[in-house]
Amino acid sequence: MAPNLPPLVYCHDSQVTIIGAGNVGSALAQRIAEQDLAHVVLFDIVADRPQGLALDLSQARSHGRYSHRIIGTNDYADTAESDLLVITAGLPRRPGMGREDLMAINGKIVAETVRQALVYSPHASIIVVTNPLDVMTYLAWKVSDLPPHRVMGMAGTLDSARFQTFLAQELGVPAGDVSALVLGSHDDRMVPLPRYSTVSGIPVTELLSPDQIQIAIDRTRHGGAEIVALLKQGGAFYAPAAAACAMVESIVLGQSRILPAAAYLDGVYGLTDLYLGVPCQLGKGSVERVIELALTPAEQADMMTSAVAVKENLNLALAAFLS
Ligand code: APR
Repeated sequence: MAPNLPPLVYCHDSQVTIIGAGNVGSALAQRIAEQDLAHVVLFDIVADRPQGLALDLSQARSHGRYSHRIIGTNDYADTAESDLLVITAGLPRRPGMGREDLMAINGKIVAETVRQALVYSPHASIIVVTNPLDVMTYLAWKVSDLPPHRVMGMAGTLDSARFQTFLAQELGVPAGDVSALVLGSHDDRMVPLPRYSTVSGIPVTELLSPDQIQIAIDRTRHGGAEIVALLKQGGAFYAPAAAACAMVESIVLGQSRILPAAAYLDGVYGLTDLYLGVPCQLGKGSVERVIELALTPAEQADMMTSAVAVKENLNLALAAFLS
């Protein structure tokens, strides 16, 4: 661990570097720019692509009246002094592929990009978006040498948004009226929690039949795969970018929002030494607090199933990349 890091002071002039200017990265850059949250550096290995995207986004500025700088680059030196790194570099899924199939190739990419970016921004915090999410987040933390609360993964905000959407469809209410919660791994072993999902404060378990709730759970668990199958090429990117932007906003502006995220677990939920989706308070560059909810035995068992699968993949990933 790197001790004695200076405290982070975030303000409206934070700089966010997005590594990977693909579908998710460019959609995230657009959101950060349009919300005028921070300066944005878009980095990619493909020559000229991030520069072209940054130029295009800059030219959208006059309509959106946002003021922060957006640059694109293939040179890590241009990412220097970033406050936050968002790692979206890597391959998305193809139809029929599980997120685990991406492990070998994306593991190499995540390890390399984190190492290189931290040379120029040693005090940055990190949000990982690349899949398989829980394993890639652990890997990023390991190679970063940062305190664990400065590295986190984006998945719970996305999975919860998907659950919110499908619950709203079953209820026939606006999605914005639903507050939903999904914990666990970012795969089909995720743990949607209807007891902690509400509409105007009413748990959805009071409003929907068990069958209706199960429909929403099943669609949420396979929400990413459903989009991969429809698109034929590449994966979802609008909702992942929106979910990542909510985390970026809370961290950059120090909002201390409670959002589900892949956080380092050191004893909570009976789990140690892994990253997994749990409710977190996100502010000022870090996970300020991991929240341990009271779970039923069945919910706890689902968390364990989720965790065991992540641990297995993690051991494979660590053997491959850190040996
Ligand atoms: N350094 C920097 N950028 C890289 C590197 C690297 N070593 N390797 C690949 N990239 C870039 C690619 O050039 C591409 O522009 O990462 C980008 C990935 O973009 P897309 O292929 O469009 O993938 P996207 O849909 O954005 O998904 C990225 O996020 O949600 C996850 O599962 C998804 O793991 C995937 C990641």
